[in-house]
Amino acid sequence: MMQFFKKYLSIISYYVLPLLLIGLSFIFSERGIAAENDFYGTLGSFSMLLIVVIVFAKPLSQIFSWKIFKYIVAFRRQLGVASFWLALFHGVLYIRLYDLFGIESFVGSNNTLYLLGLVGLVGIALLGITSNNISVKLLGKKWKTLHRIVYVLFFVILAHYVVAEGSVFPAVFVGFLFVALKFVAWRGVRLW
Ligand code: HEM
Repeated sequence: MMQFFKKYLSIISYYVLPLLLIGLSFIFSERGIAAENDFYGTLGSFSMLLIVVIVFAKPLSQIFSWKIFKYIVAFRRQLGVASFWLALFHGVLYIRLYDLFGIESFVGSNNTLYLLGLVGLVGIALLGITSNNISVKLLGKKWKTLHRIVYVLFFVILAHYVVAEGSVFPAVFVGFLFVALKFVAWRGVRLW
């Protein structure tokens, strides 16, 4: 059952999603159409949601013995790759929409939103590119260390979200909840 799910989720996240995003990007690439709806923003929201799910899954699976959390932990690689594609299209489409070419678009206090996004995107790209068995073999122990940066990225993306939305509370709430869950899991608390 698990292998069956994993196989189809892999096909979707490695092949179907990027192809779908290429198609949708063409449809939404015209500036007028992009400005009229929040397609680009929605891609970022889904990407962030997947990162939240990925980092929450581990402590939740340690605290609760529910199967769903174990499944998510097992599928983190596929979910991570899907998050990478969504972030890549979100970032690149905004770079094109707002002409963010050149380093000057990412420095200075007016560009905090873009700088945080870029740092997040570079990080997710590193993880996305190394989310395969060959990289696991080549990097050995370093692979685990590298993939721990997902926790740093999680906070970088929360900060990007704060600047984008102009509201602090939701991101701070999610951040605190994560720290609290990690702490509870680390203390060895087991419920259900
Ligand atoms: C170079 C990289 C990036 C650029 C240039 C960029 C740009 C933007 C811009 C301009 C917005 C504001 C949209 C608006 O409200 O009008 C935004 C919002 C957002 N971004 Fe990014 N971003 C980047 C990377 C990322 C990454 C890597 C993630 C997540 C993994 C992400 C997640 C989000 C989210 C969740 C929002 C708020 C959603 C919304 O406004 O609907 N972004 N980004």
